[in-house]
Amino acid sequence: MSVHKQWKKVTVPEIRGRKGGEPIVCLTSYTSLTAVLLDEHVDLMLVGDSLGMVLYGMESTLGVTLEMMIAHGQAVMRGARKACVIVDMPFGSYQESPEAAFRNASRVMKEVGCAGVKLEGGVEMAETIRFLVDRGIPVFGHVGLLPQSVNTAGGFRSLGREDKEAAQIVEDAKAVAAAGAFAMVIEGTVEPLAREITEIVAVPTIGIGASPACDGQILVTEDLVGLFSGFKPRFVKRYAELGQGIEEAVQAYAKDVRARRFPGLEHCFGTKAPQKKAG
Ligand code: KIV
Repeated sequence: MSVHKQWKKVTVPEIRGRKGGEPIVCLTSYTSLTAVLLDEHVDLMLVGDSLGMVLYGMESTLGVTLEMMIAHGQAVMRGARKACVIVDMPFGSYQESPEAAFRNASRVMKEVGCAGVKLEGGVEMAETIRFLVDRGIPVFGHVGLLPQSVNTAGGFRSLGREDKEAAQIVEDAKAVAAAGAFAMVIEGTVEPLAREITEIVAVPTIGIGASPACDGQILVTEDLVGLFSGFKPRFVKRYAELGQGIEEAVQAYAKDVRARRFPGLEHCFGTKAPQKKAG
């Protein structure tokens, strides 16, 4: 008999079934280390292509490759025992055709062992979402602000202030739900629009810069713990300042090394660690 605790993974149908229920807690995870730390506390971990910017210092997510997503997905799977793990399809890996999307998404599913994939887009991606879902690949949709379309959009800004733009995002959300996505991210829209979409679509909406009315929330973990400090968008709430903590620790280490206070004999081999004086 195994001495290891058996963990029951949160499944895609369970996430789908949480529409209108207890809010779904989601965070990004790119490494085994964060996966282990987050696992007990979140329902869903997204191996987001935001890793290109957060871990690799890229200007946008466009340079992220399928190989990068697979390697980070595998790392996260090694640390996640309970949470539902979803991997982002990177730019260029699914837009060409439903067949190309299936080829790349099935590679991710096989090589990572994750529960599903996420892809960005609305009406224009509905056929691809249907193609993948009909062939056994659960799809997490993503509407509103689409970071992979930063060049056509001309930058990042919140969306849905104008009626025409808002109507298009509603159409996108409806198309993604009708195509069989099990849930969808709504990113960077005005609050009333995300609220309206949440009321309209039958699958859970996961907000980021969207609305408290969404069925769940997601943030980039490094943003919420204060590790990615270049820029703090309005929609991020900082729950810790780990970047500052790391800098202070590194400063103290550098000072100790320069003053020959580190290592102490207790950190060395073949020496007697200083004995405590009997009191
Ligand atoms: O890439 C990512 O991390 C994302 C989330 C922020 C939703 O798409």
